[in-house]
Amino acid sequence: SRTVTRDDAGTATVGGRTVTELAAEFGTPAYVLDEADFRARARAWREAFGSGADVYYAGKAFLSKAVVRWLHEEGLNLDVCSSGELAVALAAQMPAERIALHGNNKSVPELEQAVKAGVGHVVLDSYQEIERLAAIAGAQGVRQPVLIRVTVGVEAHTHEFIATAHEDQKFGLSLSGGAAAEAVRRVLAEPALELRGIHSHIGSQIFDTAGFEVAARRVVGLLAEVRDEHGVELPEIDLGGGLGIAYTSEDDPRTPAEIATALDAIVRRECAAAGLTTPRLSVEPGRAIVGPTAFTLYEVGTVKPLEGLRTYVSVDGGMSDNIRTALYDATYSVALVSRTSTAQAMLVRVVGKHCESGDIVVKDAFLPADLAPGDLIAVPATGAYCRSMASNYNHALRPPVIAVADGAARVIVRRETEEDLLRLDIG
Ligand code: LLP
Repeated sequence: SRTVTRDDAGTATVGGRTVTELAAEFGTPAYVLDEADFRARARAWREAFGSGADVYYAGKAFLSKAVVRWLHEEGLNLDVCSSGELAVALAAQMPAERIALHGNNKSVPELEQAVKAGVGHVVLDSYQEIERLAAIAGAQGVRQPVLIRVTVGVEAHTHEFIATAHEDQKFGLSLSGGAAAEAVRRVLAEPALELRGIHSHIGSQIFDTAGFEVAARRVVGLLAEVRDEHGVELPEIDLGGGLGIAYTSEDDPRTPAEIATALDAIVRRECAAAGLTTPRLSVEPGRAIVGPTAFTLYEVGTVKPLEGLRTYVSVDGGMSDNIRTALYDATYSVALVSRTSTAQAMLVRVVGKHCESGDIVVKDAFLPADLAPGDLIAVPATGAYCRSMASNYNHALRPPVIAVADGAARVIVRRETEEDLLRLDIG
């Protein structure tokens, strides 16, 4: 990965620290996050979109107080999708007006908390939610700015579970079916809601700008319909997140500048054609910012060659710290980082220590044939949707997140302890 580099002697380092030192100091398994890389990626998005747009980091990819502070300092906004994420954002002093609240089934307490905090946008996802939020905002005596999430009918080429804009799924209100237009009518009829614009998110781990362009065109089409029916020009559109990253060298992701240029061009062109003032654009990248910035550091526990098949390498973590391989058939790479080796490569499968055979971290990879217990291996590009989707399966203790910058390493999320687990189990 970009974050792990080798010095002239072949020693693996990150942010000015050697990987073996980090393992000795913080233990394994651990997520190691390169703060400078995170900031550089956040800044690249900010700069690509410029001052005429807003970049909301999608907190579901990975959220912690340190990350919120970095985002704030780099001029990004934040997308949260639960009161838990909102609590972290507020605890780290993200200004509420720079937060957007998402979710297809936000609870009444979540909506109340968000309105009370003064979040910049609530992204509405159903008719019931329009009523709920209007009642809550009305009761608090505020006019809550909102977006309506629409389903644009784009088939994004990604795993079914993470594609979100085709018709037969739970998110958003259908554009073609008329539900989106009806939601606009209902929101405009609520004095406690201020309709700021339309939101679309077409899916995740997408490599092609075409799907975003179709979404942008259809969203602008709705803005024109709203103008024609209601005489109002909505000032904002949010085209969501979903830009893919390289998990292995076979992936070829688009850059923030490429996506910004493509979206800007299509939104301008479509608005000009419809006679609309170009709205303010927002995007919500999560994975593309944090994904490449971290790797998971594991210690090898056992090495088991299966004659004629492959060698199973068991590490001290597994599906509890990275569910993506089991859940989405995701591909990862792996490297030996505690030493150099000139041994020939052997075909391996990196597996965890959990009680099921689907507990696979890296399905197919090559590692040196002299790999042995005690070696450290790193799985790159685990910054997104790994710690945030980590579980306590088999009462595993969720690993810490170690941030490294300028030769200094610090824990930003500490390792769970058995006391943490026992504290919840009140007998
Ligand atoms: N905005 C909205 C409304 C979203 O639902 C999502 C992701 C994002 C932004 C950020 O998408 P990103 O840029 O990170 O692709 N657990 C899955 C990914 C689920 C994504 C859910 N929504 C995975 O591990 O691949």
